[in-house]
Amino acid sequence: MTPVYIFLCVFLISFLLDDHQVHGSKVFKNESSVCNLYEGTWVHDTSYPLYNASNCPFVEREFNCIHNGRPDKLYLQYRWKPAGCETPRFDGQEFLTRFKGKKFMFVGDSLSLNQWQSLTCMLHSAVPKAKYTLTRAGGLSTFKFLEYDLSIMFSRNAFLVDIVGEKIGRVLKLDSVEGGKLWLGVDTLIFNTWHWWLHVGRKQPWDVIQEGSKIYKDMDRLVAFRKALSTWAKWVNTHVDPGKTQIFFQGISPDHSNSTDWGDASGKNCFEEKKPLFGSIYPIGEHPAQMVLKDVLNLEAKSVKLLDVTFLSQLRKDAHPSVYGIGGHRTSDCSHWCLAGVPDTWNQLLYASLVKYCPNVGC
Ligand SMILES: *[C@@H]1O[C@H](CO)[C@@H](O)[C@H](O)[C@H]1NC(C)=O
Ligand SMILES: *[C@@H]1O[C@H](CO)[C@@H](O)[C@H](O)[C@H]1NC(C)=O
Ligand SMILES: *[C@@H]1O[C@H](CO)[C@@H](O)[C@H](O)[C@H]1NC(C)=O
Repeated sequence: MTPVYIFLCVFLISFLLDDHQVHGSKVFKNESSVCNLYEGTWVHDTSYPLYNASNCPFVEREFNCIHNGRPDKLYLQYRWKPAGCETPRFDGQEFLTRFKGKKFMFVGDSLSLNQWQSLTCMLHSAVPKAKYTLTRAGGLSTFKFLEYDLSIMFSRNAFLVDIVGEKIGRVLKLDSVEGGKLWLGVDTLIFNTWHWWLHVGRKQPWDVIQEGSKIYKDMDRLVAFRKALSTWAKWVNTHVDPGKTQIFFQGISPDHSNSTDWGDASGKNCFEEKKPLFGSIYPIGEHPAQMVLKDVLNLEAKSVKLLDVTFLSQLRKDAHPSVYGIGGHRTSDCSHWCLAGVPDTWNQLLYASLVKYCPNVGC
């Protein structure tokens, strides 16, 4: 063997051994540097989108923007291009074969629903003839490809910690994760929580917050979010064997409700935005909830990989349903994402991460 090959082999072995330390955005390396999948730009690519949402019979109406009358289509044809490498094109057939017999579960709010629907549409469109079942029970939806015995599930759980009805009202329990029972025995878990922490008034689904024996009428929401994430991290560390289960956290999904965030002083929302931003920074900078999340993952949940989708999604002010979502012309949805669309990229990056994609060493 030439020295180069020996070097590559040593590198490859160390890459494999090093896997448990691969965390956050640094998904794979080559000999000279690290390719960060989450730093890059959106490029126009007419081979996208990956599917036609109208051929995905189970897609929720709120995400099928074209069906709801969205006239422009350019937003469907952007591919995420990391600066130092390419992401693999999604291969649904390969996914099904590779993960035969496995269970995936997205746990979180409607942004998890968005990503779950995206993945099931991506897979269904790759193998439109493959038999599937879709069942719903309580907050759990299970999409199963029968011949592959592969389940892709969605568990609606907006806070990850529990809300319990008691005499004093609905109690948000910052140090309780009874809901976690549902997550046991799953092969790949993808969590998310954030948006519901901001709700006040009628949309706030709890009356008081409890931590230990203390009851609070309210508290700084970013602080409460952090405490809940710490509780969740302890649950993960106690109940999940990282050798058997892969755990991801879907990074904070950004809203585009106010254009001052992206440097347009008018203060308009995402309606009629037709193009992404192309810079290498987002004017308003890093999302505060994302900073808290990164901190908790780095310090308290080292076995969890961050699907670091915040920045690439911040650039996509054009990709929300706006008035072509569920509310029709009365409301503008600038927080969910049209399908096909941005969550497909989140799933491609999830896939790249799962297959330990490493283009620069050809492994
Ligand atoms: C998507 O599918 C629908 C229904 O089959 C069809 O009417 C429409 O033309 C398709 N759109 C594209 C862009 O292929
Ligand atoms: C390693 O990755 C960097 C960027 O991440 C790239 O510029 C370089 O060409 C890669 N090296 C090899 C040998 O592929
Ligand atoms: C948008 O943000 C700016 C700056 O924070 C603020 O002054 C303005 O009121 C906001 N507009 C809306 C519609 O919320």
